[in-house]
Amino acid sequence: MEKIRIGIFGAGRGYNLSRNFMMLNCDIVALCDSHKERLAQAASKLGEGVTCYESFDEFVKHDMDAVILANNFHEHTPFAIKCFQHGLHVFSECISNITMAEGVELIREFEKANAKSKVIYMLAENYPDMIFNREMKRLVDGGTLGKILYAEGEYNHPVAGDDIAFLKEYTYYPEHWRNYIPRTYYITHSLGPCMRITGATPKKVTAFSIFVPNSGAEIPTACRVGDAASIITTQNDDGTVFRVTGCAKFGAHHHTYRVCGTKGQAENLRGMGTKVMLRYNKWDTPEGAQTETLYEPSWNDPEEKFINRGGHGGGDYITSRTFVESIRAGKQPPHPYDIHSAVTMSSVAILAHRSVLDGGKPYDIPDFHTEEARKQYENDRLCPLWLGETPPNIPSCSHPDYAPTERQLQLFREQVMGITEDK
Ligand SMILES: NC(=O)c1ccc[n+]([C@@H]2O[C@H](COP(=O)([O-])OP(=O)(O)OC[C@H]3O[C@@H](n4cnc5c(N)ncnc54)[C@H](O)[C@@H]3O)[C@@H](O)[C@H]2O)c1
Repeated sequence: MEKIRIGIFGAGRGYNLSRNFMMLNCDIVALCDSHKERLAQAASKLGEGVTCYESFDEFVKHDMDAVILANNFHEHTPFAIKCFQHGLHVFSECISNITMAEGVELIREFEKANAKSKVIYMLAENYPDMIFNREMKRLVDGGTLGKILYAEGEYNHPVAGDDIAFLKEYTYYPEHWRNYIPRTYYITHSLGPCMRITGATPKKVTAFSIFVPNSGAEIPTACRVGDAASIITTQNDDGTVFRVTGCAKFGAHHHTYRVCGTKGQAENLRGMGTKVMLRYNKWDTPEGAQTETLYEPSWNDPEEKFINRGGHGGGDYITSRTFVESIRAGKQPPHPYDIHSAVTMSSVAILAHRSVLDGGKPYDIPDFHTEEARKQYENDRLCPLWLGETPPNIPSCSHPDYAPTERQLQLFREQVMGITEDK
């Protein structure tokens, strides 16, 4: 079998993912990042045989089969489209598109490319493949929880304001996407597992945010976002309801999920590592099972040794493997990694933020299989983040006038960017 030749775009997260593809016996042939230091660092770890590029337009011409898009969170669509135009398969980090118009464009260009030759598109969403989420999917598929009614997903990632090393690595200039991203936008880690476990797709969304601005002489950890979390509710195509966060910062760090059916429920308990709590109603407990079980799930996977070496609790390896398998089979990946599910997740992120700005108003999630829905959104370019030199055209925060103080920004420039200013 010929090896799949892979190019990596974005040397930060991109390098971490590349290790999984090497375990999957793929060749990493090209690497692109305009940040010279990061490029050199990742290249030295990848070893010989990797051609380095600073320009994407040169990189995309490299002789290869697939590209890992691990560039800025909000700039995946234009690069995915260029890959399609070169007949390359795409494994795109979260999220797939940052505006509704980009969602329409991405799907149109994907269809155009596929009319010429098969290109695979997969959202690189890895949290559904964490061990407890795989276990919850297994339980749902087994049927003992009954008809599924409800699921929850919380991706909760507080960052200490004085963690300068973190800020230097992840939010290194004021216009960086992490400084402007509304709380609803980093949604795939909470919504993706709910969609994977239940098989449902959101149809309507509503959301509220919790406003807790940086105070006093604190360095702003997200310059333009005074919200700690957004609580997002979706109503889905099968009548189920999800309650999810985007990226939240409340309570203590965790990512937790819960699925409830008519007969029982399963969840990974906060603060209990990877353990799963499975509970049935007494009268619905399957024969031979216990009403309540707290247990450590197993992978039940012949590649456990590679899974344990992959990042994010093994999710990185399994998600990468799904992409490789999809390419080899010539079939698009399963729900919710396929392009329509990916764009649906982006629509939930974008329209949940509009709901926040609109006092919790519900928004319908469009189905871009239809031309009618595409027409409705093809020119909708509202965006709360900087796109190159173009400033945001809507606020990032539930309180639209919120901005860090001049003193806070000065601290950011001094301590994160290392710029000393005259007093
Ligand atoms: N799935 C996960 O668990 C996970 C974990 C971390 C990051 N991510 C995702 O991976 C992506 C990257 O994350 P990161 O933390 O590495 O972000 P980052 O902002 O630190 O890095 C982005 C990199 O892309 C490079 N880049 C951007 N535009 C470029 C261009 N036009 N030409 C050349 N290089 C360009 C930048 O120089 C930078 O090195 C994001 O979408 C993020 O959401 C996912």
